Amino acid sequence: MEIIDNILNKKTMSQFDTIHTVENNFAKSNSNYLKAMFGATDVMPLWIADMDFETAKPIQEAMQKLVTRNIYAYEFNTGEVFQAISDWNYKRHQLKLNPKSFVQISGVLTGIGMLIRELSKKGDGIMVQTPVYHQFFKVIESAGRKVISNKLKVVDGNYQMDFEDIERKLKTLNIKAILLCNPHNPIGRVWTKEELNKLVNLANIYNVTIISDEIHSDIVYSKSTFNSIASIDNSENHIAVIGSPAKTFGMQSISNGYLYIPNEEIYKQVKNTIGSLYLDHGSIHSANATIAAYTKGEEWLNSLLVYLEKTMNWITNFVENELPEITIYKPEGTYQIWLDFSKMELSEKALKHLVINQAKLALTPGDWFEKSHTQFMRMNVASPLEKIQQAFYQLKQAIDDGVDCSFNEEAKTDNCCSC
Ligand SMILES: Cc1ncc(COP(=O)(O)O)c(C=O)c1O
Repeated sequence: MEIIDNILNKKTMSQFDTIHTVENNFAKSNSNYLKAMFGATDVMPLWIADMDFETAKPIQEAMQKLVTRNIYAYEFNTGEVFQAISDWNYKRHQLKLNPKSFVQISGVLTGIGMLIRELSKKGDGIMVQTPVYHQFFKVIESAGRKVISNKLKVVDGNYQMDFEDIERKLKTLNIKAILLCNPHNPIGRVWTKEELNKLVNLANIYNVTIISDEIHSDIVYSKSTFNSIASIDNSENHIAVIGSPAKTFGMQSISNGYLYIPNEEIYKQVKNTIGSLYLDHGSIHSANATIAAYTKGEEWLNSLLVYLEKTMNWITNFVENELPEITIYKPEGTYQIWLDFSKMELSEKALKHLVINQAKLALTPGDWFEKSHTQFMRMNVASPLEKIQQAFYQLKQAIDDGVDCSFNEEAKTDNCCSC
């Protein structure tokens, strides 16, 4: 029986089931980082939004071909990369983009930092919808701009935009741009056309630009559809899109990304600035990896999405049946899962102790994304299912054992174990 089970299991083994050796050089598992952020190194790293999977074969081959040429002379961008980005968006999202409106950038955050500087002055406000990807705060504040927070609200267990709050703030505060995250990291919403329509409408009325970070656009599950802000009617004068194949294909270290700016004036302005800083040379690794991903990576991505959706379904079932203490927000997109521990009524310290020291997991604390969200954790699930299952078994064991509050008297709650 065991032999038959093994054969059956082998047959259904996916390429994503392979557990690869963890490299200390990778940020996700680097012991110095883990120690600095979590105070422990014996933890399963499920924090940064990186995959534990090998990237698609065509990308591997493209990289190997470049490396083995052994001549690394100047090589000019032929524009082929923009055609590949444009074709991919049409194929995957039925989105028609003009290859002439792209600007190559070396990373998504670089692009956001650049746009913020072009579209606003020091002291101006940039709106974000919290909880949101924590680097948004840094990219805004380090440019001398003010973060204006528009908190997302939970309605019937689902995160939604608070349009009344957006409009009130656009009317009364000096806001020059809305930094949108679509799909939204960390809560996993994929904004609908109706929501985007409303947002564009407000941007047009109050003359602000929507900077739409669409880095997670290709990781969307079967019940949802991704809509780019560029697909919204009458958006062209008030948007700038930022995209990248990095999250989709797990190639974050080959820094890359692109801006798509349909308004000609803003496009010229940004292109000039990027040109004057010589940032538009791009990297030949980036360009080749992007072309390989977008022209030959679709089959791999389709398999990845099936695998991730299976993982998400397993997690939701497990949490619903075995961990009633946790509320889960099943994502419509992204490979992050947003977990709410507030029913446990633990102090911030006790929750961190439970997750890090007892369950031995390195998850991203919710307060990175919104200061008040100390009862939330984000888990990155782009790992072999076996590893994710193990993480949840560890979490359940720790919760069943009860929180060991002896480490900190102040953290004591009714959920402390009696040990
Ligand atoms: C929403 C979002 N934008 C940007 C980034 C970072 O992009 P890059 O490394 O290209 O700057 C991330 C990484 O997790 C992200 O989640």
